[in-house]
Amino acid sequence: MSETFFVTTALPYANGPFHIGHIMEYIQADIWVRFERMQGHRVHFVGADDAHGAPIMLKAEAEGITPEQLVARIAAGRPRYLEGFHIAFDHWHSTHSGENFDLSQDIYRRLKAADLVYAKPIEQFFDPLKGMFLADRYIKGECPKCHAKDQYGDACEVCGSVYAPSELIEPYSALTGAKPVLKQSEHFFFRLSDPRCVGFLRQWLESPGHVQPQVANKAREWLDGAGEQALADWDISRDAPYFGIPIPDAPGKYFYVWLDAPIGYLASLKSYFESGKAREHGETRSFEQFLAAPDTRQVHFIGKDIIYFHTLFWPAMLHFAGAPYRAPDNVHVHGFITVSGAKMSKSRGTGISPLRYLELGMNPEWLRYYIAAKLNGNVEDLDFNPEDFLARVNSDLIGKYVNIASRAASFINRHFDGVIDYPGGTEALITRANLLLQQVRASYASREYSRAMREIMAFADELNQRFDARQPWVLAKNPAEREALQDSCAQALYGFKILTCLLAPVLPAVAERVARELFGLERPLTFADALEAPRHIRPYQHLMTRVDPQQLEALLEPPATPAPTADKTSAAAADSAAAATISIDTFKQVDLRVARIAAAEAVSGAEKLLRLTLDLGGEQRTVFAGIKAAYDPATLVGRLTVMVANLAPRKMKFGVSEGMVLAASGPQGGPFLLAPDSGAVPGMRIS
Ligand code: 2FM
Ligand code: ZN
Repeated sequence: MSETFFVTTALPYANGPFHIGHIMEYIQADIWVRFERMQGHRVHFVGADDAHGAPIMLKAEAEGITPEQLVARIAAGRPRYLEGFHIAFDHWHSTHSGENFDLSQDIYRRLKAADLVYAKPIEQFFDPLKGMFLADRYIKGECPKCHAKDQYGDACEVCGSVYAPSELIEPYSALTGAKPVLKQSEHFFFRLSDPRCVGFLRQWLESPGHVQPQVANKAREWLDGAGEQALADWDISRDAPYFGIPIPDAPGKYFYVWLDAPIGYLASLKSYFESGKAREHGETRSFEQFLAAPDTRQVHFIGKDIIYFHTLFWPAMLHFAGAPYRAPDNVHVHGFITVSGAKMSKSRGTGISPLRYLELGMNPEWLRYYIAAKLNGNVEDLDFNPEDFLARVNSDLIGKYVNIASRAASFINRHFDGVIDYPGGTEALITRANLLLQQVRASYASREYSRAMREIMAFADELNQRFDARQPWVLAKNPAEREALQDSCAQALYGFKILTCLLAPVLPAVAERVARELFGLERPLTFADALEAPRHIRPYQHLMTRVDPQQLEALLEPPATPAPTADKTSAAAADSAAAATISIDTFKQVDLRVARIAAAEAVSGAEKLLRLTLDLGGEQRTVFAGIKAAYDPATLVGRLTVMVANLAPRKMKFGVSEGMVLAASGPQGGPFLLAPDSGAVPGMRIS
């Protein structure tokens, strides 16, 4: 029976480009979506930018633009990544949208009517200079336990203790340095601890398939917490100034970003329906009818860091809001991606730059295959290991999969005009294909992709062994063995078609080319195609190259430091100790200016450089900066930064560099471009 799915991935914050962690999650979901479609199910796959919250508001302010402009700029950079890695969302939207305002306010009103929302005054630090309440991460001070200076408001990075911001000694605002004052404000809370919520969530977690067993256990621990660990109600409001959705009938109050973010899944779906795209995909019902239908399966792919939101708040919100809203059918949780065993930073995504991967001309389907070959259905971290990547892609995709077609197709084209015949019959392969289809489909369905890839490659091994054992290159020399030659190649090519169908969710572009260019099929492959023996093959076209170790090396090179004169030794020395003292007069010799990045582009032939056009308020300068690995040029345009304006022009291979932009870097990562606070304008002198 055909089913209908509504599939999402976690909505990325709209304050930076995608990092490899996002791409991994999208590839996991995209493979699953393509697989379900090949099964004949209807799938709507939507995403959106998570636009709200204080960090986005403050970043926009620092750049001298509106949050809407920042969000639009980030959104404009998304297609490059999604298309680049063959991630085929049906629709991409934003949580800062009319649909999300309406849905969030509607859900809130329903929860309020169900008596699951209450107001309560709370005391919170307030920055009197900025006129803003401060989230814990914007308060710093001395750790009350170990007395380390400059620790964040919730936990000490030196001794690891956890505390309330009010316990910090000499707290200060990380935004302005001002001494924060405790101030009262009324906040709204969602009654997560209400017995109705707890009862419902226990039941929801209990039903098999909603979440993985380890995730259900974790969520149950939270529900069962006692004493200090007791399940708390959820503070869902924030005070102005805040970039978010206004709370109805509560002037100056906004929904906390995490309330409207998951509702953004529904907002994107609604916009997809209203744009007419759902209809194009064969869906004739309205958004509300679709959402409410008991046979619509709502499936979320998320990372392990946001389990709490997706297994407690989100199902409870949906369930108690009532029809057409329904709690999710599945929340599929994955682990993090590490690079050579090292954890990446979530915000900056150090490790591998997805954009650099594409710019180096690396095949996106290598990465899709590698991720598939390592992912299972559990919440386990996945390590990107360069040697393993090279070995696996080259051996499996080139050595086992692509090669079989290139070898067999050339015999059939040379000796039989492309006509495939089966003197030995097709029964054995059909039987094998049936069994394999059953196994591989079950593996895909349960997101056991690594098992699926093992099953597929074991079959590829069998095909190659059988082909080699019959030695078609010897048979080809003997006219009496014509039938044997035909049969050995026919079996191999039929096997190759089966492999292609099975790999299609992972390698959509290759599968599409094989279908069209080799087998002459002008439509997407389905699993049923695996049971149809091909009768003709066109001349083999080159399908995929090997991974080049030099590309991999370039991918993993640490980001270049922007300072053109700093050699490795002096940079290391500067990292470990402060530079020698200089007089204020020496410092004043450096003409530092606020500059707006008017244009940014990659430099053809330069691996690390971006060509920046800087506006100094009337004057324009061209500067080459070694920041390509860390920044997508599209996201830089419009930003304010700091430049050295009196640096002697430097003639480089690609042109003259008329200054230098400033950026921070260190063992934790970088380069991170500097940006002035809001109010600064291009040309202002920095002293
Ligand atoms: O953790 C994050 O990156 C959030 N932006 C995820 C939101 S998922 C959903 F709730 F929108
Ligand atoms: Zn401490």
